[in-house]
Amino acid sequence: MKKIAVFTSGGDSPGMNACVRSVVRTAIYKGLDVYGIYHGYEGMIEGDIKRLQSGSVSNIVQRGGTILKSARSQEFRTPEGRKKAYENLVKHGIEGIVAIGGDGTFTGAKIFFEEYGIPTVGCPGTIDNDIYGTDYTIGFDTAVNTALEAIDKIRDTAAAHDRIFFIEVMGRDAGFIAVESAIGGGAEFVMVPETKTDLDAVVKSLKNLRKTKTSSIIVVAEGDEEGNAEEIMAKVKSKIKDNTKEFKVTTLGHIQRGGSPTARDRVLASRCGMAAVEGLIAGKVNCMAGIMNQEVVYTPFSDCIGKTKQLIPDQLKLIDILSI
Ligand code: F6P
Repeated sequence: MKKIAVFTSGGDSPGMNACVRSVVRTAIYKGLDVYGIYHGYEGMIEGDIKRLQSGSVSNIVQRGGTILKSARSQEFRTPEGRKKAYENLVKHGIEGIVAIGGDGTFTGAKIFFEEYGIPTVGCPGTIDNDIYGTDYTIGFDTAVNTALEAIDKIRDTAAAHDRIFFIEVMGRDAGFIAVESAIGGGAEFVMVPETKTDLDAVVKSLKNLRKTKTSSIIVVAEGDEEGNAEEIMAKVKSKIKDNTKEFKVTTLGHIQRGGSPTARDRVLASRCGMAAVEGLIAGKVNCMAGIMNQEVVYTPFSDCIGKTKQLIPDQLKLIDILSI
């Protein structure tokens, strides 16, 4: 293998740049030529591919976003789109790929490998932490800390006004950000897509809590089956029937996707990037390089996307116990 390419795809996450840097520099260290594919699969289809040098990734380890840009490509879902992408890779002589992204990215990579056989190794880049085969995904730690900083600030004003706040965090299908920011932020409740939300129980507990507390924080993952934070607040408010209490909603949104990555995310990203290149050189294909129990683990893409990473049950229990 002489030439490899790297791209970022799907929702960006803090630490993707650190991962790109690690891929580029590990490849150069191992004597490979390395190319950047811009705008994810879109760039593969359009031929937006450029040679990268060590200096191309200088001064990015600390930056959020991704210098390679990111996109969610509809065209790559079609056989015609993938054919164009393959032809562009062949034109550049690319023999291996590092794909940095989440489950959508790996689904595309798996199909592409099965059709065209270009060795691909993934790195888990998503704030959601919902990828099987790695303890943490690149960007999760930064996103949790961003959410936590916001929760701390909201807590000040919630306490000052004796209000009940519903804070919506990201996580369409997964509650990892919600659970960890709820524990760290001392929330009274967390609502996540993985478990059934019992609004009657929440209302009952809120009434009980009012004997000891004057304000409350409820963290809602955007994908909860009862709705978004605004909808859930309306439901709780109508059930609680208490005009003396004020209810407020804050949606944190995309601020969770930006910012300088934490040390943990930079280290994870750098390790995964190096492992992906080493994996390609060692003949690994169609799999993701993740870190489990501090060891590099290569997990087939079929498992990364087919198996569900479970929330840690103790963490949910903890929120219950600590909210009394
Ligand atoms: O997958 C990462 C994520 O940030 C999810 O948590 C969120 O639901 C989604 O992306 C938002 O996507 P977009 O930036 O396309 O609105």
